[in-house]
Amino acid sequence: MIIPSILSANFSRIAESVEMMLKAGARTFHVDIMDGHFVPNLTFGPELVRALKREFDLVLDVHLMVDNPIEVFAWFEKAGADWISFHIEATPHSHKLINMIKEKGKRAGITLNPSTPVEIVYPIIDEVDFVLIMSVNPGFEGQKFIPSTLKKIHQLKDYIENMKKGPEIQVDGGIGPDNLRDVLSAGANLIVAGSSIFKSNDPVSTFKLMKNMEEEFRGK
Ligand code: DX5
Ligand code: ZN
Repeated sequence: MIIPSILSANFSRIAESVEMMLKAGARTFHVDIMDGHFVPNLTFGPELVRALKREFDLVLDVHLMVDNPIEVFAWFEKAGADWISFHIEATPHSHKLINMIKEKGKRAGITLNPSTPVEIVYPIIDEVDFVLIMSVNPGFEGQKFIPSTLKKIHQLKDYIENMKKGPEIQVDGGIGPDNLRDVLSAGANLIVAGSSIFKSNDPVSTFKLMKNMEEEFRGK
């Protein structure tokens, strides 16, 4: 699945950007929540999630880049977030928070910064719906993909291979048509893309190209 990240949309025309992607065939959108502490940038609050859910029929994948996810997740859950992921680096209570998110009927994801080893999720691997492996240091769109991420995706894919119902693997940062195949081959299936789609000359064609590439890959 290709998941457009609205961080790269035109902020003065977010609804139009979303509408354009829905028409192109997107259904799930990535929403980056930054608090200016955990990452050096500020973005959206729960009202954006509420407004988008009111306006459109879509799935919102909320990526919390905040220092206090236990407190903050409830704001987004109430606003209508469908998937909620938070950084394992931000809380010693990830097992608890994963279950709090799932108790609300949401999909729960755990996110790892580029410098955080994959093994850290093993003790809670049965609990999570997806693991988000960051392929840039979080905070900004338009950064370069960090190649060592591929090894981490591979490692996680190998680890979960024999599980009855292992988590999905999401990857976020610096992904576009040029390296999409690499992350798919490594084992990721939830692909977040911001600037490669929205900052391209033709966002609809770029999204469709990536979607076709993914379908072709799965067809193999
Ligand atoms: C980065 C965010 C990403 C961002 C990716 O901190 O978590 O979701 O939107 O943007 P690109 O695809 O441009 O790297
Ligand atoms: Zn993100």
